[in-house]
Amino acid sequence: MNTGTFYGVGIGPGHPEYLTLRAAHVLRSVDVIFTVTGPNTETSISEAIVHSLGSIRGTIRPLVFSMSRDPEIRQRQIDENAALISDELLQGRDCAFATLGDAMTYSTFGYILQKLQADHPGLPTEVVPGITSFCTLSAVSQTIMVENGEQLRVIPAFRSETADDLEFPSGTTTVLMKTYRSRNALIARLQHEPGIEIVYGERLGMSGQYISTDCAEILARPEAYLSLMLVKKK
Ligand SMILES: C[S@@+](CC[C@H](N)C(=O)[O-])C[C@H]1O[C@@H](n2cnc3c(N)ncnc32)[C@H](O)[C@@H]1O
Repeated sequence: MNTGTFYGVGIGPGHPEYLTLRAAHVLRSVDVIFTVTGPNTETSISEAIVHSLGSIRGTIRPLVFSMSRDPEIRQRQIDENAALISDELLQGRDCAFATLGDAMTYSTFGYILQKLQADHPGLPTEVVPGITSFCTLSAVSQTIMVENGEQLRVIPAFRSETADDLEFPSGTTTVLMKTYRSRNALIARLQHEPGIEIVYGERLGMSGQYISTDCAEILARPEAYLSLMLVKKK
């Protein structure tokens, strides 16, 4: 029996209309769709997006991924989930892994892909790109991400203690993701700095979407995992 094809599918930031046509086609046609959920959440955003397609022929299998700070615990869960996926693939079933935003950008999918490719060299694989959270923030806030000679960089997480050390050179746009715990330390430092523009977004493309450039208002908000910032320095 031939091995099934493994598809990594970026589903965009969380609104069904931000799915690409290729993503929708793959999700509608595979035998099994793996979705991502946290250990304490009953439903997942990726599952909701898949359901919004209406007519899927495959089975949905939610996978729990640990957010533990212990790399061994995280790796064990990745290995276990990769084994569940390869069981299906080895039975000839086409499988999709649906992941928020783009599949190759700070995504759990990357770990699964590397594990499956190491265990099964030559595994038939396709990766479907998705709209990233930061492209969505730039679009919905109508903030130009970069133009002319400006440079773009992405910082995935930083500790509050290091907020003072982060540098924002002129002519750069910095995307700060997964910064919900350290957000306020950085805003407190930057809010009075000349030439700095801050755009903050939460739950982009979903119910409860929030966008602001008002530092006082952002500082008053509770932590939100699904949040990020653009910092532009003229
Ligand atoms: C594991 S990363 C996933 C990134 C994703 N693959 C992408 O392309 O944007 C999770 C982080 O992405 C950001 N994020 C993802 N989706 C988001 C959304 N709909 N609204 C706001 N932030 C989002 C947040 O910074 C969150 O902490």
